[in-house]
Amino acid sequence: RHSFPILVAIDGPAGSGKSSVSRAVARRLGFAYLDTGAAYRALAWLVLDRNIDETALSDAAQADAVTALLKDFDYSIGTDPDEYFVTVGQADVTDAIRSPEVSAAVSAVARVPAVRQALTELFRSLAANVDRPGVVVEGRDITTIVAPEAEVRILLTASEEARMTRRSAEITTQSAETVAEQLRSRDRADSQVVDFMSAADGVITVDSTHLDFEQTIEAVIDVIHTRTKRA
Ligand code: DC
Repeated sequence: RHSFPILVAIDGPAGSGKSSVSRAVARRLGFAYLDTGAAYRALAWLVLDRNIDETALSDAAQADAVTALLKDFDYSIGTDPDEYFVTVGQADVTDAIRSPEVSAAVSAVARVPAVRQALTELFRSLAANVDRPGVVVEGRDITTIVAPEAEVRILLTASEEARMTRRSAEITTQSAETVAEQLRSRDRADSQVVDFMSAADGVITVDSTHLDFEQTIEAVIDVIHTRTKRA
């Protein structure tokens, strides 16, 4: 394992192309890939599986029930960009964590401070222990909270219209209006917890509104090359 993997932190809203771009960039550079949203989703999946009422998490007892789950949150995520999977215990939840039910519940779970604290520590340790020369860590608070010292910090944005269009092309089981409304409401809920719409000091913005997938990958790789001579 490399003693100092290059850390590439990428934040952005849903539908910015963050996950697919981050994974493609990791694959091209031979880096590991860490999808932090998948961990929040996996925990939300477990919350639903245990019948905890996620709509009542401001209630101390419910928040405690979620915090208690963290102790046996036997979660595992692939950091190889070519072999992506997420498991909780024996269950492969790679697909289940993308369900509308989990998407609707995840913001409430991610708002619990003890959850954020525990997952932040987990991400730092996963990122420091990859067996690749670098790691692309993607989420909402990577450039600001999880790895503010990262060599490369990028905010990947796109206009709301572009994000809605991309997301509804991905999700074909629901109408475009339903997808747009769910995305808007999740952005609203998530932005109460962390600001992922504006770039913090030293963070480079890549706006993908007028870029296609390939151009976005190239723009991100350009930033990585500019910021580090090691990649
Ligand atoms: O990127 P995503 O849609 O898979 O993220 C799922 C949820 O997890 C999102 O609604 C906000 C939350 N999240 C977070 O709070 N902090 C992160 N670093 C990543 C995701």
